Amino acid sequence: MPENDIVMEACGISRTYPGDKPVHALKETTISFRRGQFTAIIGKSGSGKSTLLRILATLDPSDSGELYIEGEKVSALKDADLARFRRRRIGFIHQDYNLFPEYTAYENIVFPIHLDGRSEDPEKIDALMENLGISHCRDKFPHEMSGGEQQRVSIARALAIEPAVILADEPTGNLDSENSLHVTKILKLCQEEYRQCIILVTHDESLAAYADRIITIRDGCVSGQEGQV
Ligand SMILES: Nc1ncnc2c1ncn2[C@@H]1O[C@H](COP(=O)(O)OP(=O)(O)OP(=O)(O)O)[C@@H](O)[C@H]1O
Ligand SMILES: [Mg+2]
Repeated sequence: MPENDIVMEACGISRTYPGDKPVHALKETTISFRRGQFTAIIGKSGSGKSTLLRILATLDPSDSGELYIEGEKVSALKDADLARFRRRRIGFIHQDYNLFPEYTAYENIVFPIHLDGRSEDPEKIDALMENLGISHCRDKFPHEMSGGEQQRVSIARALAIEPAVILADEPTGNLDSENSLHVTKILKLCQEEYRQCIILVTHDESLAAYADRIITIRDGCVSGQEGQV
C-alpha cells in the first residue's frame, strides 16, 4: 500500500503518570495505521493499552512525541482546534457505552453532530440505526435498553460523524459472547464498507482474530506485531 494510505501516525510518544512512584505507562512508541485497516491491540492488564488508545484518540496528551492524523499534526493543535478536529474525525467507543441517561438513543447518536453546530440528516441516522439493528430503540432511554443495544447506540454515535478513525477500548468488555461477536462484526463492516481505520483494544483473542493486524503491548512498548503491517 502507498505511504499516503497512512491515516494515523504516532512518532515516539511517551506518557508518564506522575506521583510518588511515577508510572512510565508508554515508552517512546512509534506506530502507524492505514485507511481500511483493522488493528487489534492486546496485552496484559496495566501494559498501557488504554493509555496508548486515549493518546491516539487525542483524549489525553502525550508527554513527548508527535501525533499525525490525516496529515494534520494534531499534537501541535490548540485546545479548541483539537476539540473540533476530534469531534469531526475521531470516533471513540467506550467499554461502558458512555451514553447520556437523559437522552434517547436517537438524541445520543446525533449529539456530536449538534455539538459541532451542524444538523443531522435524519434519513441517514435512521439507516445507520437500521444497519446496527437498533431502530426499535430510537426513542428509548439508555436504562430501557440492554447492554448490547446501548453499545450499538454508542457505535452509531461514533459512526454518525463519519470519522476517519474509530477507536474502541474493550467495547465488548461488558457484553456476553453473542453481543461481543455482533459488535466486532459491525466494526469489521465499517472497515470493509467504508474503509475506516479501526483500532480495537480487546482481551478476547477470538475477537482479535477479526483484525488484519494484532499488536501486543508489554510494559508500555509494542512488543509484537502480527499480520498486515
Ligand atoms: N490516571 C492514572 N494515574 C496514574 N497511573 C495510571 C493512570 N492510568 C493508568 N495508570 C497506570 O498506567 C499503567 C498503564 O495503564 P493502562 O490503563 O494504560 O493499562 P491497560 O493495558 O489499559 O490495562 P487494562 O487491560 O487493565 O485496561 C498501569 O500501570 C496503570 O496503573
Ligand atoms: Mg485499559
